[in-house]
Amino acid sequence: MGVDRRSLSGKTQIFIVAILAVLFICTAFSFGETFSQNRFISPDTCGDCHSEIHSQWKNSMHHLAHHDPVYVALSQFLLKGLTDPEEIAESESCVKCHTPVGNITGYPLKTSDDLKKVSTIAAQGIQCDYCHSVTGAKKMENNGLILDPGHGEDNPGTKRGPFADSQSDFHENAYSEFHTGSEICGTCHNVTHVSFGTKLESTYDEWKEGPFNSPDPSKKITCQGCHMFQRTGIPATASTNRPPNKGLAADDGPTRDHVFTHVFVGANTVVPPGFGGKDKAEMALERLKNSADLALDTGRVNEGWLGIVITNSGAGHYLPTGLTDVRQMWLDIHIMDEKNTTVFSSGAVDKDGYVPENAIIYHTVFGDGKGKPVLNIAQAREVLTDKRIPPGQSVREEVLFKTNRAKQLTIVVKLLYRSAPQKVMDLVLGKGKQTLPIVTMEEIRTTLTL
Ligand code: HEC
Ligand code: HEC
Ligand code: HEC
Ligand code: HEC
Ligand code: HEC
Repeated sequence: MGVDRRSLSGKTQIFIVAILAVLFICTAFSFGETFSQNRFISPDTCGDCHSEIHSQWKNSMHHLAHHDPVYVALSQFLLKGLTDPEEIAESESCVKCHTPVGNITGYPLKTSDDLKKVSTIAAQGIQCDYCHSVTGAKKMENNGLILDPGHGEDNPGTKRGPFADSQSDFHENAYSEFHTGSEICGTCHNVTHVSFGTKLESTYDEWKEGPFNSPDPSKKITCQGCHMFQRTGIPATASTNRPPNKGLAADDGPTRDHVFTHVFVGANTVVPPGFGGKDKAEMALERLKNSADLALDTGRVNEGWLGIVITNSGAGHYLPTGLTDVRQMWLDIHIMDEKNTTVFSSGAVDKDGYVPENAIIYHTVFGDGKGKPVLNIAQAREVLTDKRIPPGQSVREEVLFKTNRAKQLTIVVKLLYRSAPQKVMDLVLGKGKQTLPIVTMEEIRTTLTL
């Protein structure tokens, strides 16, 4: 008995097409295994015994990955106006990293799903039970983590971490070498365009190819070696001390020589304070102020030539890293004569808060495949320019100016950082609606008599 296709009503045909479309979308966006949501335990439950770690993680960028208003606004904005299915596939992929528990438990599968309908637990972003159920990674990009979660609070399963001798009445414990290496971070901190393969973020690759991935164990510093040693007053960068954090990993546990901190602070001074995480913003400032060194070569200023050397002395990856098409790190250079008249100026933001086109800026620019810059990463078919500073390395800039027969010159050079250009904020949120703070990472001021 076959089904005569002509006998199907128009409505049934539409229904079948809709089912097929849903199936296609499901296979396209939920590449991996799916788990039922009740296999994950709320971070608050973990916090009952791991109170210190919980308070560090709370309001961190990982906790906020789903709610982060900058992410929410940008991800919704990027969906607009796309027609190319390959571009749409990228724009729909965000939730895999930003709402990972939701994504592997079935909702949201794509960025255009109603993000307000996300369950309470999935809305908690990158959380305890997600990371501590990890057993390994199948690829080093676009979140290739493999998970083996427990079965909820009645049967929490195994929590994996750095201790070989740890015990808990609540859950099983296991030593996991994977948790002690950069790879657990790197599979999410390497973002590749799902269709075009363009490297959109490459923090892990930058670290892997850099000096901190040293075969000599005394020189090796993992992501955790900096980022999970940071706490207030201890920025834990390559140029500052990274002393162990002796204390309790669990409220009832033994004293440990080092308890890895869970603040996950990078350079973001903007988002955590909006959620009660002022301490995270202060830690981000401390981190940024211990990331770079500035030096001036003033040997030939009387000829109208100034040399500036910027060294990435603190980061384990390029400076800046991460979302480098959006991040701005630039030089603000100001030279005045003895009457305070400006002789040369570059990089001062204009009245709209925009960095002028001719400023010396460190970031990446993506292109459409034909050499034209694109703002929407979904359309990024190529990297047009990548001007940044590798870990441990220096770049040298030259400035030419007219001395105008000055008798004395005051030179002020600042290295500045901002999470996103004002232009992007204006485009996404509306003109002048939101301004972002500009952080002075380094500053040199000197006066020379010619
Ligand atoms: C982004 C992934 C990630 C998240 C989220 C996360 N952890 Fe961890 N955690 C780690 C890693 C990685 C280590 C081990 C670091 C190492 O050995 O280099 C660790 C270590 C630990 C340890 C061992 C003690 C220590 O800190 O050294 C405990 C306990 C722990 N985490 C509990 C938690 C709890 C509770 C939460 C939620 C409040 C949480 N973790 C969130 C990745 C994570
Ligand atoms: C009833 C208390 C309790 C609860 C609830 C609890 N833990 Fe633990 N956990 C402990 C104790 C105690 C230790 C041992 C600490 C030590 O050895 O220093 C521990 C150790 C750990 C370790 C270290 C494992 C290792 O071998 O390195 C991790 C990771 C961990 N817990 C994660 C979690 C996560 C994730 C949750 C929430 C799903 C959670 N814990 C909930 C009490 C608890
Ligand atoms: C499941 C994917 C995932 C894993 C695993 C992960 N991260 Fe992240 N991480 C993210 C996302 C997504 C954000 C950005 C959240 C946002 O801005 O909305 C982030 C943000 C951060 C930030 C804050 C950046 C800033 O601008 O301030 C730091 C630092 C960081 N991660 C370090 C780590 C380290 C260290 C590890 C390993 C222990 C790790 N991450 C593991 C996805 C991940
Ligand atoms: C040697 C210390 C060190 C190591 C190792 C290190 N970082 Fe960083 N990280 C820094 C410093 C300093 C900053 C602040 C300057 C900057 O933004 O690059 C930073 C910033 C970041 C940011 C925020 C970038 C931004 O501007 O938005 C992220 C994300 C990050 N690190 C992730 C990682 C990951 C993932 C690893 C491992 C693959 C890692 N880091 C290894 C020191 C380190
Ligand atoms: C493979 C994992 C992954 C995917 C997929 C991903 N992101 Fe992210 N995202 C990250 C990481 C890691 C960071 C932190 C890097 C940094 O801070 O510079 C981040 C940070 C961000 C931030 C910075 C937030 C802030 O407050 O400054 C925005 C915005 C963002 N992502 C948007 C998106 C959008 C839009 C998509 C989908 C088109 C997307 N992300 C897909 C991993 C991912």
